[in-house]
Amino acid sequence: MDPLKILLVSSEVTPFAKTGGLADVVAALARQLGKLGHDVRVVMPYYGRLRKSEYAFESVERVQDVPMRCGEKRYWFSVSRSRLPKSNLDVYFVRCPELFDREGIYTQDPDEHLRFALLSRAALELCQWTQWAPDVVHANDWHTALMPLYLRTVYAWDKLFARTRTVLTIHNIGYQGVVSSETLRDLELQNERRLLYQEDLDQGRLNFLKTGILYANALTTVSKTYAREIQGEEHGMGLQALLRQRDDSLFGIVNGVDHEEWNPRKDPLIPHKFSERDLRGKEANKKALCEKFGLDYDPRAALIGCVSRLTAQKGFELLPDILPVLLHRENVRLVVLGSGEERYENYFNWLAGAFPTKVAFKAGFDNPLAHWIEAASDMFVMPSRYEPCGLNQMYSLRYGSIPIVRRTGGLADTVKPFDSATGEGTGFLFDEFTPEALYGALQRALAVWRDESAWRRLVQNAMRENFSWERQVEHYLALYRRLAPAQR
Ligand code: ADP
Ligand code: GLC
Repeated sequence: MDPLKILLVSSEVTPFAKTGGLADVVAALARQLGKLGHDVRVVMPYYGRLRKSEYAFESVERVQDVPMRCGEKRYWFSVSRSRLPKSNLDVYFVRCPELFDREGIYTQDPDEHLRFALLSRAALELCQWTQWAPDVVHANDWHTALMPLYLRTVYAWDKLFARTRTVLTIHNIGYQGVVSSETLRDLELQNERRLLYQEDLDQGRLNFLKTGILYANALTTVSKTYAREIQGEEHGMGLQALLRQRDDSLFGIVNGVDHEEWNPRKDPLIPHKFSERDLRGKEANKKALCEKFGLDYDPRAALIGCVSRLTAQKGFELLPDILPVLLHRENVRLVVLGSGEERYENYFNWLAGAFPTKVAFKAGFDNPLAHWIEAASDMFVMPSRYEPCGLNQMYSLRYGSIPIVRRTGGLADTVKPFDSATGEGTGFLFDEFTPEALYGALQRALAVWRDESAWRRLVQNAMRENFSWERQVEHYLALYRRLAPAQR
């Protein structure tokens, strides 16, 4: 079969810019598609905070100082490219300092809609300037969700896109890009009101993600359970009815683990390598991590790890009721790495102060430390209120750090409950979103922890799981081929 031309557009791509799993998923998917010989272009913004000295950038000929009208405003953008590490393909960076030279990746600035609309349009204009006709445009989350509509409106005149089909992946329905309908001019959609969701317009709003859900040829989300959950009241965040209407175009494809990045045998970011056959390195990582943070190292104490964005999604409000009790009663240690809402940072700072030899908290984003925590921990806790897929529990499995997770979204699809009787399973799950239910799961985990041979079996089960992208990429490819059959 002929290779496909795939335009993959995202606000984050590992290693260039990352706040969460989206960045890892886009990079891994692109890498796998590239390995299979497809012609993939990944497009993202050239953020001010990119560590520019670490990568080599090359200007893309012809796509320099291109003017773009956005209502009454006018911007100029240029495109540079750089190799996606460990791949045979390029990431294309949209440079527009006026919009992307900001403190963070995301902002609360009033022109946030323009930043990502410009990214979306620039990605399409890059195709035009280089006469590269994509078979598939694959947009991700609200930031690029207007692309399917742009192809039907602003760029509909161009035959280059005559056979282009669109996929929108919903990584997190909690972020929809809801803006005032006064932005329609900026977005060059003022003449397309009839194509937008009327009820929203009547209420003075425009919802980027909803617009994408209306117009993408196919929708995917990052696990089968989440694909079902977002069609219901509890997790649909207002979009459930629309998603139910598009049920036959909505597919759940669970994410994978990029084995190039996450492999305890070879990971350059961890002090001691290890494998399921020889776990001595894992214990050495635990000891070293305890020493680094001034924690009391005891091989019999279970080290619980947590690496996360600190947001309500991740279920941290369940912790204050149970952690002090757990830390008093049980021989455990806790290491948390996270950045996000201040209330959670304050809580973990307080906890670390109250239990200085048992709890360590590091605020901020720190990729090497994230790897080390996975490698050092015995257990990894993710009590998410909702979790579209979750990557950390899969990284944990691979690093023999047993996940303790709420049965929701991708957590339900990737962690199998451990059964002491049969010795089968890879982790511990709980259902109710309550502190008691989480406490129960922790107790079950600790009971197995005290039985050394059962624990060893559990760790081996976990490390033998294989959530590789090599397999998951086939699901995306099958979908692309179904949408773009003419290219067979
Ligand atoms: P989400 O995308 O909702 O944040 P995922 O589990 O899919 O959740 O992905 C989170 C990714 O971000 C993981 O690779 C995790 O290691 C990383 N991560 C989250 N917070 C931090 C942090 N503070 N420092 C380093 N890495 C982090
Ligand atoms: C989102 C979700 C997370 C998922 C990630 C990558 O940020 O919160 O569950 O793993 O996207 O798809």
